[in-house]
Amino acid sequence: MPEQIQNIQSENTVNSPLRASGLSAAPGPIGIFDSGYGGLTILEKIRTELPAYDYIYLGDNARTPYGTRSFDVVYKYTLECVTRMFEMGCQLVVLACNTASAKALRTIQQHDLPVLDPHRRVLGVIRPTVEAVGTMTLTNHIGLLATTGTVQSDSYPLEIQKINNDIIVTSEACPMWVPLIENNEHLSTGADYFVWKNVKNLMDADPMIDTIMLGCTHYPLLEDKIKSYLPEGIRVVSQGDIVAKSLADYLVRHPEMETLCTKNASCKYFTTESVEKFSSSASIFLNEEIRAEHIAVG
Ligand code: DGL
Repeated sequence: MPEQIQNIQSENTVNSPLRASGLSAAPGPIGIFDSGYGGLTILEKIRTELPAYDYIYLGDNARTPYGTRSFDVVYKYTLECVTRMFEMGCQLVVLACNTASAKALRTIQQHDLPVLDPHRRVLGVIRPTVEAVGTMTLTNHIGLLATTGTVQSDSYPLEIQKINNDIIVTSEACPMWVPLIENNEHLSTGADYFVWKNVKNLMDADPMIDTIMLGCTHYPLLEDKIKSYLPEGIRVVSQGDIVAKSLADYLVRHPEMETLCTKNASCKYFTTESVEKFSSSASIFLNEEIRAEHIAVG
């Protein structure tokens, strides 16, 4: 176990009982999980909104991308990472990944949490995004740009229907975008074609769209390019601020969980890939020097 995590745990486990699962009931950092680097765009907004808390970021970079993988595989990988974050002391984990939220969140909440530890919580990014975007459209026509996995899951249209049955969601899978971003090629002219093509497909499929959700945590890095291929007046919505405000609201509404989140304003980064690769690529997403630690999962 990395030393910093041992320290976090040992500080907090003094006189803290173990729950039936063997997991500690001690307060701990908030866990932010993504398949790779995309969740850093969410983490940044969460830390701006809620700077006092401690955070652990886990990127499953060794097994990214999740966007093209099956339900079973995304569920297995996500559960392994969430379990690892529980072992590291997190009482609350946010899946800052749409693909994991779409394919794994519900099963983890309904089947795994009751066994692992019914007191812990795992939250996703789709529900808060849908709640916010559902109030923004004037035409009731919304576009979704997301990974193939998120689009195939139908999670966004299904969640939108729960809040407003009149809204029509048209989705476009963008399988090339995450690899372009992860390889720092997203601002190249080579990327222009793929962004143009997917944006055109979406607008051709429904020209009434007035609001577009970026349903992948990587896509804020392409926001300017996406907008350059859209007609004037179409709103493009990134999730970071929405998820951060939703988490703040959740902590207010759930004081029993809020007291289980430690507050020393720290943030630690963990990756399942090489530390060097994470640190250099993470700077594409965050304008700061990041030192990660390697962690084995699964
Ligand atoms: N960051 C993930 C999401 O929001 C996509 C990356 C991947 O395909 O692993 O959906």
